[in-house]
Amino acid sequence: MIMRKARAVRALAALAALLTLSLTATACGQEAVGGSRYKGGNSNTIGIAMPVKTSERWIADGKNMVKQFQAAGYKTDLQYGEDDVRTQVAQLENMITKQYKLLVIAPIDGTALTDVLQSAHDANIPVISYDRLILGSKYVDYYATFDNFKVGVLQASYLVKKLGLTEGKKGPFNIELFAGSSDDNNTRYFFNGAMSVLKPYLADGRLVVRSGQTKLNQLYTEKWSGKAAQDRMENLLNKAYSNADVNAVLSPYDGMSMGILSALQGVGYGTKSKPYPFVSGQDAELPSIKSIIRGEQTQTVYKDTRKLAKATVQMATAKLDGGKPQVNDTKSYNNGKKVVPAYLLNPVSIDKSNTQLLVKEGYYTAGQLK
Ligand code: GAL
Repeated sequence: MIMRKARAVRALAALAALLTLSLTATACGQEAVGGSRYKGGNSNTIGIAMPVKTSERWIADGKNMVKQFQAAGYKTDLQYGEDDVRTQVAQLENMITKQYKLLVIAPIDGTALTDVLQSAHDANIPVISYDRLILGSKYVDYYATFDNFKVGVLQASYLVKKLGLTEGKKGPFNIELFAGSSDDNNTRYFFNGAMSVLKPYLADGRLVVRSGQTKLNQLYTEKWSGKAAQDRMENLLNKAYSNADVNAVLSPYDGMSMGILSALQGVGYGTKSKPYPFVSGQDAELPSIKSIIRGEQTQTVYKDTRKLAKATVQMATAKLDGGKPQVNDTKSYNNGKKVVPAYLLNPVSIDKSNTQLLVKEGYYTAGQLK
């Protein structure tokens, strides 16, 4: 069914391209222009496909790109897939049929866009993978993201330092590990980055995972759900912590950290005699920054979505102007079909001591942090 639909959309897109080509040829009274591969679709609109609105970071990503693409002279069509793969595929098919100039996609499922990217390619529409890598397709032109391995390194090294392990404390300290959604390529980069720091401590017993769950496939949190993280944390606390405290929790994302903290509160953490464990996070979302200021969540990783939008717009405009987009990594991101040239931005660790950086950089106002 989906295959047939994809084929129909491809045919439609090709027809639309042909029609526009012949119109252009007639209007110019000369050979068709605008049809050469990767000059982009024939409308002046950039299609922006974001995964979900329930997380404030993706709302900011969308807004920032719309603003910056419009400043560069393009129209935009911003769509959210509501964490549903088929919705996102349908949105993209529609953008291709409309001959959009270029697509910026943060995939919901990195492996589910092979057909739709084939259609984009057939219609000469370039694709930039945004924040999350699209897997299994040759037709991903560029990738704009943060250094995802480093995100995991920042989370884990923060926890290890807070526990005093880097200053020579021997522990043993109890830690539990969480990972993101299994369909998001970033998940394993975050996890591998974190494990590159935690492994030696786990190996010699200075860190102990009392639940015994340390393999990535035991740690996934589908769709990055805060509720799923809360449920799993409740389970772990029930099973492995009836007579011990958990001292640290590796959480890869703020929305999950919030769920984990609710589970901890539910069994009495957050008092003088039973303090919260150190809990990491990612995205510097407002509820988490407020929680950090209150002394609940301990850390997050700030990824400035304005800078990611800027890098993406730079790549898109260079590509569409026939220039060479700036990249700084041509090795790390193999999507199974090609190594996608990437521009990696630098993530920054935030805790109570430097939340003001977010105000200084204009990411939040001082009033928002109150
Ligand atoms: C990842 C992204 C993270 C976080 C997570 C959940 O792909 O890199 O920053 O936003 O999705 O939305």
